[in-house]
Amino acid sequence: MADHKFAVIVLAAGAGTRMRSKTPKVMHELAGLPLLGHALSTATALGGDHVIPVVRHERELIVDYISAFYPTAVIADQDDIPGTGRAVECGLEKLPADFDGTVVVTSGDVPLLDVATIQAMVESHVDGGFGATVLSARFDDPTGYGRIVRDADGHFAAIIEHRDASDSERAITEVNAGVYAFDAKALRENLASIGMENSQHEKYLTDVVAAERANGKKVQALTVLDNWLIAGINDRVQLGEVSAELNRRLCAAWQRAGVTIIDPSSTWLDVTVSLAEDVTILPGTILKGFTSVGRGSTIGPEVQMTDSQVGENATLVKAHVTTSKIGDGASVGPFAYLRPGTDLGADGKIGTFVETKNAKIGAGSKVPHLSYVGDAEIGVESNIGAGTIFANYDGVNKHRSTIGSHVRTGSHNTFVAPITIGDGAYTAAGTTVRKNVAAGELGMNLTPQRNIADWVINNRPGTKAADAAEKSKN
Ligand code: UD1
Ligand code: CA
Repeated sequence: MADHKFAVIVLAAGAGTRMRSKTPKVMHELAGLPLLGHALSTATALGGDHVIPVVRHERELIVDYISAFYPTAVIADQDDIPGTGRAVECGLEKLPADFDGTVVVTSGDVPLLDVATIQAMVESHVDGGFGATVLSARFDDPTGYGRIVRDADGHFAAIIEHRDASDSERAITEVNAGVYAFDAKALRENLASIGMENSQHEKYLTDVVAAERANGKKVQALTVLDNWLIAGINDRVQLGEVSAELNRRLCAAWQRAGVTIIDPSSTWLDVTVSLAEDVTILPGTILKGFTSVGRGSTIGPEVQMTDSQVGENATLVKAHVTTSKIGDGASVGPFAYLRPGTDLGADGKIGTFVETKNAKIGAGSKVPHLSYVGDAEIGVESNIGAGTIFANYDGVNKHRSTIGSHVRTGSHNTFVAPITIGDGAYTAAGTTVRKNVAAGELGMNLTPQRNIADWVINNRPGTKAADAAEKSKN
């Protein structure tokens, strides 16, 4: 394909009414990318001369996305004339007037279509001298798709939309995948000639095929054997089905790459996730965005991680983790909530019922039980006692706390930020730390315990507690 000129038009202007959503159909998410992202990634990877998404419905939102992630794409706007044929006409206007190569047309709502399939289609199209090539597939249930009509000798003749089809045409199980290669010049001419005489009063791209054939061009339908490749998403049932299939494929690819995934059906991976060899994923785990996991780490059961990096030989159990870093050999959970900016050093620990945010916890340091660590920096090999709260918020502003290395803080402390605790310092159980504790000091603010004799007998007479106290005195 390298020496052949081609452009890819990606259709994304439709309203997607069957999704019943405020979000335009092509912006619905599948494995971490909008449907359109899947289509544009493939279109871009083909290495053609032009990638032209056609937009209209919810234009601003879609254009913002395309400009951010596919800046080389040239956006075409569809006008008020509806239909896939009109969309392609609007896309063609963005090509140089003398462009005479191949125009590939794909849809923003067909996310699993891959580069190899399109390349094979274009090669067959160019080598065979066709005016139009259409991908088709055989579906047990072809409802909703356009049907491929063949003539008596089995030659591809036309595409009839489901809603325009007769009963006998509806019985045809070969469907139009919505993926095409056209000779640019023939496409321009034939698009100009087709009308809108159909049930939707739209200009159908599918009518070009019959027009080309009538004008003496060779046309072909190439049948794809893997039906998932061309699955179109029109409603949320199809979105769910394609999601599950893509996830099965992603899990299988990682399993082949050396990752143990105990239960692919309860493991959900975005396409952007990266896993090293000998990672183990236990059931109920969801890895999203630019999350990466290093060799030998075990994730799950029940971990959700977004845009986070885990080092080697780390362990996470029942945790919800966003935009965080977890060092080599570190352990997290069960029942931990790591909010953005958590950075746990090598061999560190964030234990049970612990919430962290904007917290750098040094190598070998541990926050094992029932604590909140917000806006803090903790040095190496320190231990934060059970039930500690970093009180970072005074109701107006957030403040930072700095804890040194080799620090031992007692259970049930409150650190009223901003405070600093020096290297090697200790604090006593139950301390509310409002003043800095210097290196090596013991911080404490307990008043001595006083026991008041007969307080219960005098103040709670007649209670079971008072009776028990009385009895034990006699
Ligand atoms: C289309 C095909 C059908 C095929 C199916 C495969 C036509 C007329 N029909 O039907 O034969 O079996 O795809 O999935 O082409 N779009 C625009 N502008 C428009 C209308 C649609 O850009 O005016 C875009 C949509 O955003 C979508 C794509 O074209 O990405 C397909 O549109 P959709 O309405 O989903 O067509 P189908 O009814 O699925
Ligand atoms: Ca569709």
